[in-house]
Amino acid sequence: MQDLKELNETISAIKQEILDSAGTLTSSRGVYEFKKNFLDFKKGKISQLMKEMRNIPNEHKAEFGKTVNAAKNWALDFFEELDQKLKAEERKHRYENEKIDISMPAVRTTYGNLHPVTTVANQLTDIFASMGFEVYEGSEIETDYYNFTALNTPQDHPARDMQDTFYLSPEFLLRTQTSAGQIHVMEKKKPPIKIISPGKVFRSDDDATHSPMFTQMEGLVVDEGITLCDLKGMLDMFVQRIFGENTTTRLRPSYFPFTEPSVEVDVSCFQCGGKGCKLCKGTGWIEVLGAGVVNKRVLENCGIDSEKYRGFAFGIGLERIAMLKYGINNIKMLFESDLRVLDQIDD
Ligand code: PHE
Repeated sequence: MQDLKELNETISAIKQEILDSAGTLTSSRGVYEFKKNFLDFKKGKISQLMKEMRNIPNEHKAEFGKTVNAAKNWALDFFEELDQKLKAEERKHRYENEKIDISMPAVRTTYGNLHPVTTVANQLTDIFASMGFEVYEGSEIETDYYNFTALNTPQDHPARDMQDTFYLSPEFLLRTQTSAGQIHVMEKKKPPIKIISPGKVFRSDDDATHSPMFTQMEGLVVDEGITLCDLKGMLDMFVQRIFGENTTTRLRPSYFPFTEPSVEVDVSCFQCGGKGCKLCKGTGWIEVLGAGVVNKRVLENCGIDSEKYRGFAFGIGLERIAMLKYGINNIKMLFESDLRVLDQIDD
């Protein structure tokens, strides 16, 4: 290169080449690569022009330098502008692709729930545990002795007819009541005793409120000086926690061979507050459990001194509590696993 004229021509050609590229470059990455052809410190066409400086006569050196620098700045600006434009397009394209329609209905995640009877069992266990009861789990297969005889219900006792029993053999049966657990506990443990025993029980019984398999929770307290008042006080606390603060209990005389006296326990209707409604059949009261003072004979059958110790026991049907709490009118609904029913029960 000899003179400025030639330089200007070269620069014009380079500029044209760069301008032409604008139409073909489509990405920021492409601009970066293409730019190197002109501005790379070693090989770039514009950078190399500077190296011609030594062939230029001294009086033209300043002008030459200025012209090359101007071309370099022009190229830098051009590529910067093109780069920004392409980057904006790339961003726009990405946003379009990643666009989310926030008005679309969300995918509904369904969660499993505990079975209503399990939920009730857990709630009751928590309530009784907070009163100091321990949990004893008995077995579903029992002997006739534990399910009946030791509970003051010998073979020919008419009370056996109260519970239609599934016998496995003359000796073994499916327990008809968690009361069988009372005997096991009293044989093993000496007073003071304070246990609950939840579990499945079985009776040949089947209608809207009875199922051949259902769940009970037994309670047993044995200590010196226990009276029916202790039972009543504990039951009042219990119903307040499960059915609401304004509920109370009343005891009605009843009969169980293993308690004397025996009572049927009603809770004041938590729906109408006692005025009378459909749920309580207009009476203001709902029957919830059976209970009583442990019969002396039962204590003696377990080797507990019946002069020194007294006890009370109660048995709660958990399906019945679940049906009352969740407004279910047929016990079968608890065992049919119909999601339309179970979905509505969330406690
Ligand atoms: N076992 C009795 C029943 O199943 C309930 C009950 C338990 C009654 C404890 C009194 C004491 O009907």
